[in-house]
Amino acid sequence: MIHAVVLGAAAGGGFPQWNSNAPGCNRARAGDLRARARTQASLAVSANERDWFILNASPDLRSQIEANEVLHPREGLRSSPIAGVIATGGDVDAIAGLLHLRERHRFTVYAPARVLEVIAANPIFGVLAPDCVRQVELPLDRPVDLAGAAGGSGLVIAAFAVPGKVPLYLETAGQDPGLSEAGDAVGLEIIDTATRNSFFFIPGCAMVTPALHRRLAGSALVFFDGTLWRDDEMIRLGIGEKTGRRMGHISMSGPQGAIAAFRDIAVGRRIFIHINNSNPVLLDDTPERREAEAAGWEIAYDGMEVRL
Ligand code: MLT
Ligand code: MN
Repeated sequence: MIHAVVLGAAAGGGFPQWNSNAPGCNRARAGDLRARARTQASLAVSANERDWFILNASPDLRSQIEANEVLHPREGLRSSPIAGVIATGGDVDAIAGLLHLRERHRFTVYAPARVLEVIAANPIFGVLAPDCVRQVELPLDRPVDLAGAAGGSGLVIAAFAVPGKVPLYLETAGQDPGLSEAGDAVGLEIIDTATRNSFFFIPGCAMVTPALHRRLAGSALVFFDGTLWRDDEMIRLGIGEKTGRRMGHISMSGPQGAIAAFRDIAVGRRIFIHINNSNPVLLDDTPERREAEAAGWEIAYDGMEVRL
């Protein structure tokens, strides 16, 4: 059985974000139960409860491990049930957490070629000693077995390109890199080899293409990009100059948004994740939260668990 734990539900920056003085962030800081704080987007997944895989290693990974008992050491003086990390892109919120895993623990990093290039180009990732940390390229559209600490983990992962863009820090200043489906952003399908049950994790996606629609049809569960409520949200609030689409993220609302796009996709459970601190659905008492829930969406929170 697949057991998935939401380690973090917020987008890059988290909720509250360190430099945000917005009312929502201040409610979260004050401990308002209807404005629950959330760390940066990540899932932990296991099929055998022994080998755990981290989908995106966020900068909050250290505190996420401490907050979730399934990720605590169980054997000897030094150990970890973390058998691997899978990255869906090269953004800071997807790979910076790898630096927390630098204490000579054996595990495997699975990432698309573009992300492995980023890791190779940045010598700080050399702290992941190659004699301990294996790097495996995730090919597009070809499932890969996830290795457990001793044999198979019971999980297979398939990566596929979604419309997205290069990481923010690789953009050329003043230039729109445009959207591509070349593997800068990937979605993941995580499959239980024993039951063939599976779910999708797609934390960054600029639009739902007909191919993505077909891929998701009939699936039991999709965690999907919930960055913004409105495409022009950052601009309207005066906290950014880019639309969501320019940032590689579909918005929830509007005719081009995720809620509309998923309306006629048969999906068992649909859960928004990677939710930006400016998105009003983070607050339990907003009309936007009610609208998303009325359309059948759940809003992920840290510690949320699913089994399938
Ligand atoms: C994103 O999801 O657009 C990125 O995480 C942005 C960032 O790296 O700050
Ligand atoms: Mn992000």
